[in-house]
Amino acid sequence: MVQIKVENGKSLYKQTSLLVIGIFENEKENLELNQLDPEILSVIKENSEKEFEGTEGSNFVLHTMGKGPMKRIMLIGLGIKEGFTNEKARIIAGKAALHAKNLGLTEFCIIPFSKTDVDLIEAMSEGIYLSLYSFNRYKTIKKVDSDFSSVTILVNSDESKFQSVVDKSKIISESVNFGRDLSNLPPNDCSPAQLTSFALSLTNEDLIKSRILERYEMESIGLSAIISVGKGSNNPPKLIILEYNGTTDNEKPYLLVGKAVTFDTGGISLKPGDKMEEMKFDKCGGCNVLAIVRAIALLNLPVNVVGIVPSVENMPSGTSYRPGDVIKMYNGKTVEVVNTDAEGRLILADAMAYGIDTYKPKAVIDMATLTGACIIALGANVAAMMGTNSELINKLRKYGESTGEKMWELPLFDEFHEQIKSVVADIKNIGGRAGGAITAAAFLSNFIKDVPWVHLDIAGTAWTQDGTYDRSYNPKGATGFGIRTLIKFLENSNNEL
Ligand code: BES
Ligand code: MN
Ligand code: ZN
Repeated sequence: MVQIKVENGKSLYKQTSLLVIGIFENEKENLELNQLDPEILSVIKENSEKEFEGTEGSNFVLHTMGKGPMKRIMLIGLGIKEGFTNEKARIIAGKAALHAKNLGLTEFCIIPFSKTDVDLIEAMSEGIYLSLYSFNRYKTIKKVDSDFSSVTILVNSDESKFQSVVDKSKIISESVNFGRDLSNLPPNDCSPAQLTSFALSLTNEDLIKSRILERYEMESIGLSAIISVGKGSNNPPKLIILEYNGTTDNEKPYLLVGKAVTFDTGGISLKPGDKMEEMKFDKCGGCNVLAIVRAIALLNLPVNVVGIVPSVENMPSGTSYRPGDVIKMYNGKTVEVVNTDAEGRLILADAMAYGIDTYKPKAVIDMATLTGACIIALGANVAAMMGTNSELINKLRKYGESTGEKMWELPLFDEFHEQIKSVVADIKNIGGRAGGAITAAAFLSNFIKDVPWVHLDIAGTAWTQDGTYDRSYNPKGATGFGIRTLIKFLENSNNEL
């Protein structure tokens, strides 16, 4: 990944193959522009009156023909000034980077789009790093994908302060791209065992400890739901546990739990064929958790975190679990399986109950591509949040606003528990079509004791799909949705909650 540099200095003296300047809609006087060579300026002025209005995302590239130290200038539209957000800066900076790449350039410079502060620089830096991600592992003819040799953000002051913001955002973006790389893997190259080896690659530097529970161990300690869901596949299930201690050992950890169904066929309750290939993304929650632990450790954050990733492949076969089966869960409750396609809540329930028992966390956050109903309720650009602690929920929503990862709470009212009552067992694993994202959360709430807990249903947002809003920084495929928000949360947690 390219390294973004922050440099103090006047843009008009900067030798570069491209200088990117953001222009607000209908803003005729732009300080940065006015300092340019009068000849260049007149060409720009002429053009901006005719065609370049500064509408959001539009752009215009001008060769300076030797009239300035910069070979080209790109004007990029920022839209109207009122209502400009860091999320827009993230998207537009990403767009500029992709344009520069399409022009075949190996280097460019960019000026902060609005008031230079830490959050703006962070957003622009993320936009650049994340938009340049591509998953080309399976392309035999590689596009000449020459990385930029350098990208420079030009500032007027505080070079080193902003450089450290950029350096941090690089670690975070690399972690997002690490998560995307895992999530994008096809199911034939990412069984639970393969995912486990990728997770273990994170433990090299000694910052992260790992524990892997094999099938027989899960069997002997009663993680029967993970065993049941996994038993239809020839690829055995795994429970991946990563621990990071950034503060004293007696400080309770945050527990992050991520669903990693490496492929979800639905099992005996087989899914229809249409779009089934997208179910390779049913491991995104788990991959995101691995990515978060990676980032937290590399950033050396002063928190304790345990990441638990139950990983299975949900397949139909002669050894599969069936509709009608009753499972005795890790916490002793019994579950009637009515639909083997509602597998995510089963493996999460066992993993959460086990994690709470073993690590006594101060809070639990789980992430899962859990329900199609979540997409029906909130679409493909908003994740659903449900839980038992409104402070935690509100914090996550707030951090999500700053990262551009939108989250919205659905009401986990008592009524929803009625829908998952079972005649033969304590509860059943589906609650009918009504409120399907909420009944899934209601199911999970049976396994968290009284620990503060938030569930994030990322079914609509974990990868680009029908209805996904086009963002430069989310190339097609896995998005890593939620990784940046949870890092922000853990970074600012101050160990309160
Ligand atoms: N992994 C799916 C949920 C899903 C479906 C996410 C489509 C993203 C896109 C989950 O395991 C599942 O199959 N859920 C069922 C639950 C139903 C059987 C109650 C669903 O949503 O249809
Ligand atoms: Mn399923
Ligand atoms: Zn699933």
